[in-house]
Amino acid sequence: MQQVNIGIIGSGTVGGGVYKAIQANGALMASRLGVQLRIAKVAVKDLKKARNVKISPALLTTDWQSVINDPSIHLIGEFVGGTTTARTIVLNAFRQGKSVITANKALLSAHGEELFAAAQRYGTNLYYEASVAGGIPIIKVLREGLIGNRITRIYGIVNGTCNYILSRMKLEGADFAEVLADAQRLGYAETPPDLDIDGHDAAHKTGILASLAHGFWADPKQTYVEGITAITQQDIRFAGQLGYTIKLLGIVKKFDSKRRAQSAKVQVSVYPALLPNSHVLANVNGVFNAILVRGDIVGDTLYYGRGAGQDATASAVLSDLADAALDLKCGAKSRICPFVPHERDGAVLPIGEVVSRYYVRLSVIDKPGTLAKITAILGSSNIGISSVIQPEGHEGESVPLILMIHDATNANMTKALAKIGRLSAVKAPPVMIRVESFE
Ligand code: NDP
Ligand code: HSE
Repeated sequence: MQQVNIGIIGSGTVGGGVYKAIQANGALMASRLGVQLRIAKVAVKDLKKARNVKISPALLTTDWQSVINDPSIHLIGEFVGGTTTARTIVLNAFRQGKSVITANKALLSAHGEELFAAAQRYGTNLYYEASVAGGIPIIKVLREGLIGNRITRIYGIVNGTCNYILSRMKLEGADFAEVLADAQRLGYAETPPDLDIDGHDAAHKTGILASLAHGFWADPKQTYVEGITAITQQDIRFAGQLGYTIKLLGIVKKFDSKRRAQSAKVQVSVYPALLPNSHVLANVNGVFNAILVRGDIVGDTLYYGRGAGQDATASAVLSDLADAALDLKCGAKSRICPFVPHERDGAVLPIGEVVSRYYVRLSVIDKPGTLAKITAILGSSNIGISSVIQPEGHEGESVPLILMIHDATNANMTKALAKIGRLSAVKAPPVMIRVESFE
């Protein structure tokens, strides 16, 4: 049986998980693939660090260059994270003719185009199944399973940490900071966790999915990103009373151009949204991710699984290891290309032009005439209200006023809310959360 020698660089949550998973299921994989997977070296930063996965000391080194340069190593796993050392590792490996497996969505978002071009130039490959949605094989779904479809919609809960936080805030009334600390302890969060809670990690993943689905590399600078730090218990509660659950969603929506000569526009955004409680994504809790993909032929499809953490991510890496091992065995390093540009006719739709429904919470002085002033501003902006609720039982200088708003562009809504925020009866900046209807 052939043997593939693997050099692992980075052995924290993900790298450690890969080591453990190969110990557990390497023989099973060998029997399925006809290729033996052998870990030849493991590079870490600190040899003295206590590790939850025990690695044979003979394999450990702090010199990642020596792993790449070792002629007996065929394949590199980059599990360091970040966009600087990781980029150098990947490029150096390619120069040595070695393909790389990575889970690093930040790296792909920042340097994907460069790395894919380099892989092609050096006749190597870059495998990244673990970069999006942990254990869910969503890259394979888009690249292989749904290859015959035009993808019209992707709605994804793609950040485990944020979903874990929002779920526990809703189901247990838990405090944001405490739950974030738990997510860090459990190995779900990025370093620093701002990447999760500010929405950037979800944006990296959503950009990867958008690029695969639409064939042009979606520029991360054009992805609209809002995180979950402004979501309060109060909004979770009011949303619940109205029949909704707040989730951080990655959204990719294609809008065909009415004119033939114009490019199709694709919305690529990440923001917290109110989902109807009856929708399946509203019921995805904890560290679980789920992605709804709509194809023009297949219709709606749904993928669900653990989105972060050691074992789920290791499972995705094992699938890349299998592909890489078969590519090496069959001598076809480009059997699966990392990213194939196609159609190339898309452009990201600016957030101002995105049309949505909205939940708006205002803190207002409870006196006659306040509502009239607010509705006058919305009316003059041609924005329709679908319901108004002033929940009872609130006392004090200001009380909450909840408005549910019909379809309006983000630009129109933002302008109207700025005017509303300047009314003397409005005592705090308006809170606006989009409502997703999955059309
Ligand atoms: P960790 O911080 O747990 O692990 C990083 C590892 O890299 C550590 O083992 C560290 O060594 C090692 N390292 C850092 N610098 C160097 C260096 N210069 N030379 C050699 N080793 C180095 O991160 P994660 O495992 O959580 O994440 C790794 C990647 O996987 C990131 O890109 C992340 O976004 C991605 N990812 C993470 C998931 C998760 O659930 N955690 C899920 C999916 C993707 P030492 O141990 O000595 O400190
Ligand atoms: N920090 C990421 C998350 C890890 O919470 O989803 C998985 O990509």
